[in-house]
Amino acid sequence: MNLTIPQVNGLQGILQIPGDKSISHRALLIGAIADGVSEIHSCSNAADPVSTLTCIKQLGTQIEERDNYFLIHGNGRRGLQEPLTPLDAGNSGTTMRLLSGILAGQNFHSVVLGDSSLCQRPMKRIIDPLRHMGAHIHGTERNTAPLFIEPVERLHSIQYTLPVPSAQVKSALLFAGLFADGVTTIHESSKTRDHTERMLGLQSTIQNGSNVVEVNSAMTIEGKKFYVPGDMSAAAFFLSAGMIVPESHITIQNVGLNPTRRRILDIFRSMGGDIQIENEQFMEGEPIGDLVVRYSDLKSNLDLRGSDVVDLIDEIPILSVTALFAEGTLSIHDARELRAKETDRIAAMVHNLRLLGCEVEEYEDGFSFEGKKKYSGAFIPSYSDHRIAMSFAIAGLRIPNITIENTECADISFPGFWQKLLSLAST
Ligand code: S3P
Repeated sequence: MNLTIPQVNGLQGILQIPGDKSISHRALLIGAIADGVSEIHSCSNAADPVSTLTCIKQLGTQIEERDNYFLIHGNGRRGLQEPLTPLDAGNSGTTMRLLSGILAGQNFHSVVLGDSSLCQRPMKRIIDPLRHMGAHIHGTERNTAPLFIEPVERLHSIQYTLPVPSAQVKSALLFAGLFADGVTTIHESSKTRDHTERMLGLQSTIQNGSNVVEVNSAMTIEGKKFYVPGDMSAAAFFLSAGMIVPESHITIQNVGLNPTRRRILDIFRSMGGDIQIENEQFMEGEPIGDLVVRYSDLKSNLDLRGSDVVDLIDEIPILSVTALFAEGTLSIHDARELRAKETDRIAAMVHNLRLLGCEVEEYEDGFSFEGKKKYSGAFIPSYSDHRIAMSFAIAGLRIPNITIENTECADISFPGFWQKLLSLAST
């Protein structure tokens, strides 16, 4: 479906957003290999975590769906069963990479497929280190999915430095480390999101400026209760909307405030965003709070590089849209990884921003532009990328006649996004 975004006179209301996508994937996977029953409360029902859910069911994990939680009957690390048909990760890079870490250590065959976008994304980053651990895993000639994984009795532990900062690769190797002999150690020059570490109770230290995480395969994993906080990457769309649309006042409840995920909040505030945090508390090892956002006079003088980009990797599309309405410049470098997401997000952002009349300079590893100019509506391709579609929908609240193509793709991370957006609007 295509949707022309209506002009609104402010957005008001209280909002619940989907459970954090990264935490939902991990809770499902950990639940599947734990000893005993796990409860997962407020798990995201978006298409990506549902791909993980479907895969673990196919691996023989029994799952009971209750009102707002799942009961996962874990059969222990050696309790997964050989799947009779290929496992389908859909559009989800997190499903494919994290699950492969677990499958690499099994004594059965498996195949992991994905949709046409996922089958073009780089998998060498997990194939190489997993092979180093003794896994029998290969992809296509281009090291893309489908991934074919042969049985092993046991993997070998490794010490590995991530060549590109990636929580998916780190987590895949930590999961594989559970099936290896001894202690697997991962070094990362920029600390990426640390949900796997928190959820498995792993220690990390800083050594010579690198974040170092260890997993000992002798550790036990007992079934437990997981509470999934609201997804900061989803909240970011409404934080942006609240800041850029006059007369707005929105409360977003129970948002995860993990330090490796909240950088977008700090950046929005540094731009002059009126965002307050209320009811801060800890839920099962993760900080959460309510975010109250009001219309703000925004200024941006942002030159983002290095670890800033790692911390903001999923929020660069919505940050860029927000900067359209801020006095000053936004410049992004060191973001080559964006070219390997659901679509080439550098090319997609540059193309769509130009469609609106924004003068953008494109680099191999980023882009830059000056905000607060005159813009005009356009038909916006989403490239089947949820974050591109939702980001430009927010621009449409301020720029008349923006039509978003293929709105359905928002379901990948945020089912109900369009209804929520329209329900907050006073026209
Ligand atoms: C994720 C890690 C990030 C992020 C993705 C989710 C995760 O990917 O972009 O949306 O849950 O580990 P990379 O590891 O490729 O940076």
